[in-house]
Amino acid sequence: MGFVTDSILINEEQLKGKVKEIGLQIRHDFQDEPIVLIVVLKGAFVFASDLIRVIDGKVTIDFVVASSYGNQTETTGKVRLLKDIEVNITDENVVIVEDIIDSGLTLSFLKEHFQLHKPKSMKVCTLLDKPDRRKVDLKADYAGFVIPDQFIVGYGIDYAERYRNLPYIATVKEV
Ligand code: PRP
Ligand code: MN
Ligand code: MG
Repeated sequence: MGFVTDSILINEEQLKGKVKEIGLQIRHDFQDEPIVLIVVLKGAFVFASDLIRVIDGKVTIDFVVASSYGNQTETTGKVRLLKDIEVNITDENVVIVEDIIDSGLTLSFLKEHFQLHKPKSMKVCTLLDKPDRRKVDLKADYAGFVIPDQFIVGYGIDYAERYRNLPYIATVKEV
């Protein structure tokens, strides 16, 4: 018994169009101000690498490594911060970049953590949003696609560390 990819939920062209849209919106909202993007690894690395190339102007990038799923399809409920930021975000405009918001636990933990540094502003940008699965009240300021409660992989998102290399988002099924 295991999991295999089933059907394509969001294809490469749809991803590209949406990433461009989000990038333009972010730059529009911040005008000429500098932005610090904090990418939540591992999942967000593919989305973030496309996103930074469609945001013009002054952009700094940093990374955190946060993990709460291990090898399961259900959150363990405990967020582990395996690597923190290195840039100074005090008085900066921070945009946290995620691949997906599910229970919301990862982002609520990270938001609280970054808030201690007193940024000028803090926004949340996610490629995918699964609002049906929320365990905490958490809203994204930028959300690419709202998706149903289905387990998905690809474009950075894994199942047991696999499938991150798919260029599209696919559903998985049990076989
Ligand atoms: C996944 C995903 C998000 C988080 C979303 O990360 O990349 O970071 O879970 O779920 P939540 O809203 O329920 O917290 P994961 O813990 O699997 O680590 P990974 O990014 O290294 O795959
Ligand atoms: Mn993640
Ligand atoms: Mg994962």
